[in-house]
Amino acid sequence: MSRALATDTVTAAHAGLSKLDGARLPRHVAVIMDGNGRWAKQRNLPRVMGHREGVEALKRTLRLCSDLGIGALTAYAFSTENWSRPGEEVSFLMTLFERVLARELHALEQEQVRIRFLGDLEPLPPGLQRLIADATERTAANSGIHFNVCTNYGGRAELVRAARRLAQRCAAGELDPAAIDEQAFTAELHTAGERDPDLLIRTSGELRISNFLLWQLAYAEIHITDVLWPDFDEAALLGALLDYQGRQRRFGGVDPC
Ligand code: FPP
Repeated sequence: MSRALATDTVTAAHAGLSKLDGARLPRHVAVIMDGNGRWAKQRNLPRVMGHREGVEALKRTLRLCSDLGIGALTAYAFSTENWSRPGEEVSFLMTLFERVLARELHALEQEQVRIRFLGDLEPLPPGLQRLIADATERTAANSGIHFNVCTNYGGRAELVRAARRLAQRCAAGELDPAAIDEQAFTAELHTAGERDPDLLIRTSGELRISNFLLWQLAYAEIHITDVLWPDFDEAALLGALLDYQGRQRRFGGVDPC
């Protein structure tokens, strides 16, 4: 798998992506993978079949981002609120995560992907926790794309956890409350060490952030597409990246003109 946006390579492999300006790609893409259930319903299939197909869309997106030389992809796989779904669907998702991880780990290693699972992992099934620990360790030194899978993740829970960790350090006398700044706070988030996403993609047309990366998305460009997640393909990613390249990022400032 090629990693840098060597335009020739990308042109040959993915003709449409050659329309992109390689110098102005997002360095970190975050994605809310929505619409799996609707995709299945449209085909008179059980909802969980949408999740299974969603895995294929995620693999496709990871490979494309990696080929383009995008540094990080962060995907919202399971939120702290998703436990309220029917028990069978939750069990299916946990088993799916386990199977996919076991099946794909070798390829992730080969392709130099560094995988991490972000969220409160303790309530996950023990078998899945072991696979996660193994995959994290085995890919930690990889030099390719950072692939972050948000699992039992909630933005508010992450902020509360960061505040608690800082408070504990203050109570232990290790940290002066006056020294708490944005950098100190960022270092206590699950995403510590990762730059903030430049682009958030949400599929299935919903106009919400849904408790995803509340701190980190402060200045992200947002691309909403009606495409349902299992249908998210090269053309849909190209659309998102071209949309991003059409934006002027000002970070609260004014246009330099
Ligand atoms: C949202 O669609 C999707 C999810 C809650 C699950 C996403 C999970 C995957 C694609 C699997 C990822 C796998 C690994 C190993 C990382 P929805 O069910 O809310 O769709 P709906 O809004 O149409 O009902």
